[in-house]
Amino acid sequence: MISGGAGYIGTHTAVELVGAGFGVVIIDDFSNSDAAAVEGVRRITGVDVPFEQVDTCNEEALRAVFRKYEFDSVIHFAAFKAVGESVSEPLKYYRNNLASFMNICALMREFGRPNILFSSSATVYGEPDALPVTEQSPRQPATSPYGNTKQMAEDILRDCCAAYDGLRGIALRYFNPVGAHPSALIGELPRGVPQNLVPYITQTAAGIRECLSVFGSDYPTPDGTCLRDYIDIVDLARAHVAAVKRMTGGRMKAGYEIFNVGTGRPVSVLELVEGFEKANGLKLNYKIVGRRAGDVPAVWADTDLANRELGWKAERSLEETLRSAWAWEKHVRGME
Ligand code: UFG
Repeated sequence: MISGGAGYIGTHTAVELVGAGFGVVIIDDFSNSDAAAVEGVRRITGVDVPFEQVDTCNEEALRAVFRKYEFDSVIHFAAFKAVGESVSEPLKYYRNNLASFMNICALMREFGRPNILFSSSATVYGEPDALPVTEQSPRQPATSPYGNTKQMAEDILRDCCAAYDGLRGIALRYFNPVGAHPSALIGELPRGVPQNLVPYITQTAAGIRECLSVFGSDYPTPDGTCLRDYIDIVDLARAHVAAVKRMTGGRMKAGYEIFNVGTGRPVSVLELVEGFEKANGLKLNYKIVGRRAGDVPAVWADTDLANRELGWKAERSLEETLRSAWAWEKHVRGME
């Protein structure tokens, strides 16, 4: 069962799971997505993937889903994710992101379902003392309620796995997910002005935004712009398949594990912009402006543990990824 399965990462994960032979049920409340996303999953897979419109915070409605479907694993994506909004509306974030996850954990226990995969984030590392970050790198105090909900949910999962017999948990810490499915039938669809770099770039290329602002060029990095680890969305989705297989295939006893999901390759904002221009043969209108509050200069993943234990590795090139991002934007805008 995939909660938040109509979202950006959820849809891509559903496609890869179906492709790997898993039966999947998607639930979503459509608070940040719509039925077209589920249709995209069905079109790509050719499978009439079951869907239930349910708010994961509604325990009774969620219980009905547990009664109706016999899944043994949950991937929990359903959450709000706008960092800035979480600062102005902390209760909205704590209530939604934590209540929903506690409902999932409680119902897994109630129904004796063993496997929980939680969607965490590299945001838990804050501004790291050493790079790349390993799963042992200390978590830093969260700088936003959003980041705090990721840390708190990780702890909830860890404690539940320690306390409740037979419960297995994996937290995947994503770096920066980008790109879209090669079919261009699913992808990231931010509502309003995009906060993240790649959707802002593709919307600028499409003429919806006038100009990309590059936030800061005076960071202590080779070209002065921030370094991030941009992970292709299909590669990221496949990490979930590997993690589910680990939980269902007898390789993991009870307990709790954490894996970084990134490429291990730092890329600057300017490199990403230039990579986008080159991959798609176009020029992007951009200007350098001041730093954005809260940005860390650099963070990228040590991926050894995931490579070794999950038998998973990022495969798509940045060029392919940035081509897929543009193909998706053109599809959404009817530009083909
Ligand atoms: N950036 C720009 N211009 C923009 C948008 C972003 O220059 O219009 C820059 C940012 O300053 C940053 C880089 O592009 O250097 C990446 O920014 P994103 O907003 O795409 O991604 P972040 O690394 O800031 O955010 C991601 C996730 C969050 C998570 C955060 C912290 O999207 O969910 O990492 O780990 F909280």
